[in-house]
This record gives sequence, structure tokens and C-alpha cells, in this order.
Amino acid sequence: MALSPTNFTSHSSIAAATPTAAYVHIPFCRRRCFYCDFPVSILGDHREAISRAQCANIVEALCAEITATPRFNQPLQTIFFGGGTPSLLSVHQLEQVLTAIDRQFSIATNAEISLEIDPDTFDRSQLQGYKSVGVNRVSLGVQSLDDNLLRACGRTHTPEDVYQAIEMIRAVGMSSFSLDLISGLPNQSIEQWETSLKGVITIDPPHLSVYDLVLEPVTAFGRQYRPGESPLPDDETTAQMYRLAQQMLTNAGYEHYEICNYAKPGYQCLHNRVYWENRSYFGFGMGAASYVNQQRFTRPRKRNEYFNWVKNYVVNGGAIDCPITPSEEQLLDTLMLGFRLAEGLNLERLGDRTDPFTITKILKTLQPYEQQGWLIRDQDCLRLSDPEGFLFSNVVLTALFEKLS
Ligand SMILES: C[S@@+](CC[C@H](N)C(=O)[O-])C[C@H]1O[C@@H](n2cnc3c(N)ncnc32)[C@H](O)[C@@H]1O
Ligand code: SF4
Repeated sequence: MALSPTNFTSHSSIAAATPTAAYVHIPFCRRRCFYCDFPVSILGDHREAISRAQCANIVEALCAEITATPRFNQPLQTIFFGGGTPSLLSVHQLEQVLTAIDRQFSIATNAEISLEIDPDTFDRSQLQGYKSVGVNRVSLGVQSLDDNLLRACGRTHTPEDVYQAIEMIRAVGMSSFSLDLISGLPNQSIEQWETSLKGVITIDPPHLSVYDLVLEPVTAFGRQYRPGESPLPDDETTAQMYRLAQQMLTNAGYEHYEICNYAKPGYQCLHNRVYWENRSYFGFGMGAASYVNQQRFTRPRKRNEYFNWVKNYVVNGGAIDCPITPSEEQLLDTLMLGFRLAEGLNLERLGDRTDPFTITKILKTLQPYEQQGWLIRDQDCLRLSDPEGFLFSNVVLTALFEKLS
């Protein structure tokens, strides 16, 4: 490993600074799930006319925001429509946003274009339509295959709706798709978790995201429950759930490529890799975050505030009023995000972001965790072990933060 001061600000860090990814937030849901604090407006169950009209205002604001954003001379390689529930958009509305993006930045011909979809919010022709306007990857929010748990989470769908959604995904030939699952739900037993895992393994999606419940304070669950206390599983049980998922999914041929993500070969989410590699990305929409020109910026989370912000943004020619992220913070972000990936951190590339003395300090701070088996050093890479290192990543990162910040 060559760690000389001449390694500073190399071409790779300049390349990482040009955004080639865009996140678009679609801030609508039919109901709010009891665990979720994402920035969304609730439309209720009337799916058609009313919701589509409300979506139209947001599409208009999104297109204005996109069109006002300064362009770079690189086409976009990944676009991710997240939510909220992007499958509440009509095909025409989605096409409007994609057209605005293509006009402003241009979309690479082989770009990954992902769309989050909720069971029971779309039909086959809608999915076919999304595909025809460029969507080539969908992410379906399953959460659990247990009917009682779904109801206890305030989900609008049943396990049957999940199976129907998957039939539609396959019928339209959307070969790249992902399912989301959550462990650590109230009253969820290890056996129920194992059943959901067996169910998704039978479905055999190319990609899976497996989250541990985060108890957000401003949610129904956050008001009702205390972390680690019944009816939430205790820490040992949630750790067991994590280990069980790792064991069952890797045995089923999935690569555990990120703390919460599993993929069959060739199906990693390229868009999310941009975040974990701490590269630049555009963000559009209510509550969306972006990282452009070393400025991390989060848009207003409330509807009217977002609309007003867009008006000013357009008038100001797409100028973002926020400070440049200090280099110490950029380094901590690189460490925190990079350790999420199975391959961990490439120490030589880290030399683009900091000086050799800091790298020596990092390695010294992490030595006890290497001895403990939570960290593994493979030539130029330093990575967390799977599953134990991933499980205790917060301990390792806290030690680093205390040393470096
Ligand atoms: C932002 S949501 C949007 C996806 C879609 N609306 C849905 O619910 O399926 C993306 C995923 O985040 C996960 N998620 C949201 N809130 C969470 C929480 N508090 N704890 C763990 N996972 C959460 C869920 O698995 C969800 O599918
Ligand atoms: S989990 Fe998905 S459907 Fe539920 S409130 Fe959050 S964004 Fe909406």
C-alpha cells in the first residue's frame, strides 16, 4: 500500500464528485405504517382520481426542481424512485418526471432505473407501463409474510397480495426485483421470522433488503413501545434473527453484500452503492437528501414548505443555501458508509480522502476489534466480519468517531 501525501485529491475523488445518480422522492402513501417516519402525505384508500390529482401537484414541483438544477456533463447511470409509494403515480406522471430528468441531465442508455412499489397499489398493465417508460428494477415492500404481523404494522396488504404482486412482476418480465423484509417487529418470534425467510427464499427474488426495526420516536410504534422491552423482541433475539437471515440467505445463494442487503450475482443495487461509496448524487422531492458539490442538503419535509422552497430554488437558478461538508466530516461519512459494504474500505482509496497519519490512527484505533474477530484485514481492504462484525458495527464506529471527531 502506497500512502504518501501525494495521494491526496486524486482523479477518483474528482470522479466521485460528479453526480451520476438521482433519487426522486414520491411523498404519498395510502396509510401510514405504524413504524414509518418517512416524509409522506396520506391519501387514504381512494386510489384513483383524488390521489392522482394530488400526485399531479407534486409531479409539477418535481419537474420544476429538476429543470432548475445545474447540470454536469455526465449522463445519469442510476435513478431511484423511492417513497412513499411511487406506484401511486400513473405511468404518464412517471414518464413526465423521467422526461424532465433526461432533458436536464440525460439518462445513460443502460441506466438502472428503480421504482419502489407497494403490494395492492398497482396492476399488471400499470407495471407494464412503468417498464415501457424505462423502469428496469422494482423494489416491493413485503415486510412480513405473516398476516397478523402485517396487520399489526398497519400495512394495507396481505401475504396473498404479495404473491399476486410477484406474479405480476414476473408476468411483465421485470427480471430485476427486490423484496423488503423487517425483523424485530412487536410479538415477532424467531419461528415467525424463519417462516418469512423460508417464504422469500421460495419466491427466489434476485435481491433482498432485510431491515431490523428502527423504533422511530414520532411513529405509532415509537409512542407505544420501548426498545428491547416486550412486546418488542430483546436485543439477543434480534441478533439471533440477524444471524438466521445471514445463514439462510447465504445458504440459498445470496451474497450478503451490505449490512442489510443480499443479492444473487449481478443483482446488487447500483444506485444504493453510490451512497455507501460516499459518492455524489442528486436528490429531488419533499424531504429528499442530495450530495452535490460537497454540499449535503435535505429538502423540507412538509408539503407546503417544499412547494415554497421549489419556488425560491427556481428563482435563485438552482442555488443551494448550505455549507460545504468539512473534510473531517466527509472522512467520517466515508468510514461509516464504507464499513456497511462486505468488501469494506479500500485503504489505498482512503488515501484520496485523508493523510497517511490519520490512516495510521484509524488502524490503531481498530486494532482491538481485529483481534476480537469483528474486523478483517485482506491486503488493502479492511472489512467487518459477517455476521458478528456487522452486528456490532455501531461499537466499532463509535470508537472511530470518538477518536477522529
Ligand atoms: C421508505 S420505505 C418505502 C417503500 C414502500 N412504501 C413500502 O412500504 O413498501 C422502504 C423500506 O424501508 C423500510 N422501513 C421503513 N421504516 C422502517 C423502520 N422504522 N424500521 C425498519 N425498516 C423500515 C421498509 O422495509 C420499507 O419497505
Ligand atoms: S413503510 Fe412505505 S407504505 Fe408504509 S408509510 Fe412508510 S413509505 Fe408509506
